[in-house]
Amino acid sequence: MKRTPIKEIFRNNETLINQTVLVKGWVKSLRKSKAFSFVVLNDGSCFQDLQIIVDDTAPNYEEISTSIAGTCMSIEGLIVESGGKQAIEMQGKKPEVIGKVAQDYPLQKKKTSLEFLRDIAHVRARTNTLSAVFRVRHHLAQATHKFFSDQGFYYIHTPLITASDAEGAGELFRVSTLDDKNPPKTEAGAVDYSKDYFGAETFLACTGQLEAESLALAMGSVYTFGPTFRSENSHTSRHLSEFWMVEPEVAFADLDDVADLGARYIQYMINYAFEHCPDELAFFEKQYAKDLSETLKHVASSEFKKITYTEAIDILLKSQKKFDFKVEWGVDLQTEHERFITEEHFKAPVIVTDYPKDIKAFYMKLNEDGKTVRAMDILVPGVGEIIGGSQREDDFETLKARIKSCGLEESDYDWYLDLRRFGGAPHSGFGLGFERAIMYITGMSNIRDVIAFPRFPGNAKF
Ligand code: 4AD
Ligand code: MG
Repeated sequence: MKRTPIKEIFRNNETLINQTVLVKGWVKSLRKSKAFSFVVLNDGSCFQDLQIIVDDTAPNYEEISTSIAGTCMSIEGLIVESGGKQAIEMQGKKPEVIGKVAQDYPLQKKKTSLEFLRDIAHVRARTNTLSAVFRVRHHLAQATHKFFSDQGFYYIHTPLITASDAEGAGELFRVSTLDDKNPPKTEAGAVDYSKDYFGAETFLACTGQLEAESLALAMGSVYTFGPTFRSENSHTSRHLSEFWMVEPEVAFADLDDVADLGARYIQYMINYAFEHCPDELAFFEKQYAKDLSETLKHVASSEFKKITYTEAIDILLKSQKKFDFKVEWGVDLQTEHERFITEEHFKAPVIVTDYPKDIKAFYMKLNEDGKTVRAMDILVPGVGEIIGGSQREDDFETLKARIKSCGLEESDYDWYLDLRRFGGAPHSGFGLGFERAIMYITGMSNIRDVIAFPRFPGNAKF
């Protein structure tokens, strides 16, 4: 007999009544009484557990009834109506143990902290919380493809190995096959990367943007969605060393166009999550984030506020609030500033535009004032920056000058400059931190709990 995922059983509960089905999964809990036992089984296909009653006529009743949480079981039985919390349950006829569980299985106690679960990431997807997060993650990835594809965007794949530090932040992981104990040296005594595998110094990509620009300037609207690597030394609840970024890039679009695209994309994901993960969202609201659904529904149906960086600085200065980091025109907005603006001042997502050029990357389009660039960040309550994007500098000479003044080598960006010489066009794009979007929509407060195997400074286990 073929296994039926528990999700299918609840979805078709009426047609399956009095039918025999086979389920396979892991025991959440098991309560033994004299003549029968209650097995609560979960197979991860959905939020709900299936309650199964196994009576002592089963030949292996002793083995089944003494099994503990975590045991992997296969049970064939009859779906029947239930008087309990759920509409149906199973009368288990043929139970079998597929995989026994050792006594030191770490998930036997009901209550465990998220922190504790991070140390046992290899089994934490068995918990209600983490499996719910990962199902939402799946659906948001599907939503992403559907949202962009339905609007004519092409899904492209940008390289993960690159020779350029496109964000100019110097937070890159080196990719090298040189002998680290005895690397070849140049005459000046530096490591000679021209002898390295790729004939140049190479890194894991911190963005796919530059290559996405090249394809946008050939195919119109594209997006890349893949892993992104940053070696920033941030031990925060919002940073990972390996995270996933969604980067749309649109030819002939200006900053307002992509700011609007970003807002609609976030709203689309929220609606998609309500449609596809109602049980999960209800659970997160109950367990972790009071008012989650009310807040999200409001965001999904209202226009995002839009202010300039200069207005943001004014709001911060007028607030009279004591911040740890000094507020004055020209400083980068710190987390505390972003949170004040989105959580306390507007109590809603906010799009901040036109940042000072000195705190942003070289590729952003210079405004006429010569001081600011056509950049935008979307900030949301609880998370802060969720999207960062810009209109790209499309003027060859201005871009060349910016590369130089940012201390970058023009020769490293020759192909990127070519895009401004070979039929260039205005174009814009952004990057959305996929984990931050999951945090926002689930209400989970630590980014390490929304990716299965988080990488952060000091940790690459699993
Ligand atoms: O603002 P960022 O650095 O922008 C870029 O990389 C652009 N090249 C994107 C583009 O225009 N195509 O990063 C974009 C987003 C941030 O808003 C944030 O949500 C997320 O990526 N992000 C991180 N998420 C988790 N951990 C980190 N260390 C992150 N750094 C950035
Ligand atoms: Mg940013």
